[in-house]
Amino acid sequence: MKTIDVCLSPELMHLYEVKGKSVVVVDILRATSCMTSALAHGIDHIKPFAKLDDCLQAKQEGYLTAGERDGKKVEGFDMGNSPFEYMEPTLKGKKIAFTTTNGTQAIAKSEGADTIVIGSFLNLNAVVHFLRHQEKDILVVCAGWKGKVNMEDTLFAGALVDGLQNHFEPACDAPRMAQRLYADAKNDMVAYLQNSSHVKRLARLNIHKDIAFCLTPNQYNILPIMQNGFMVAQKQS
Ligand code: MLT
Repeated sequence: MKTIDVCLSPELMHLYEVKGKSVVVVDILRATSCMTSALAHGIDHIKPFAKLDDCLQAKQEGYLTAGERDGKKVEGFDMGNSPFEYMEPTLKGKKIAFTTTNGTQAIAKSEGADTIVIGSFLNLNAVVHFLRHQEKDILVVCAGWKGKVNMEDTLFAGALVDGLQNHFEPACDAPRMAQRLYADAKNDMVAYLQNSSHVKRLARLNIHKDIAFCLTPNQYNILPIMQNGFMVAQKQS
């Protein structure tokens, strides 16, 4: 049977091999939810950057600049990191250069994988459907917060382990732990996460509605997938 593994923090990536695997990058609050939402609402593609300066440079190639540092929109950027900002119809067809504190760093660390896709609760079923039909082991890379583990990314990893349990077996204890956490939380994830670090951090920035939205499963039936350095939407049948 093929395996599914979970890297709970990008700081642990040296323990995992990405070559030959399908990698799912996860930053539920809010980078991968935001990217999923943007592509679902018609953004042409997203170019993820680990570094702010590189992201800013992309403006010269006609990109809108987007993202955050420490949860706050970067000064001089066109957009921040709220999924609601990307629902604007005038943004359809635009290309976006995106950088975030943790999410785009996790994407950079996944380079070399056979396939890199983006996961969020917003497109949970689309991600499960895609992975189920891949003939490769899976690695879920949780973005966490500045190297530390967080609950929301672990929960999503658990949802994937759960959804794929008849087709992929856990490669070690991390996927089993994530699945148990998800079983505990799934009936009310907003309540379960109310004391979590990033929910509290976002609340201090007066960001509330993004949290409930990012924890709502299956709003979109698209799969964001990296193709030649660009994140594009693959529609699911
Ligand atoms: C990140 O990439 O660290 C997050 O998406 C932060 C945020 O909530 O804006």
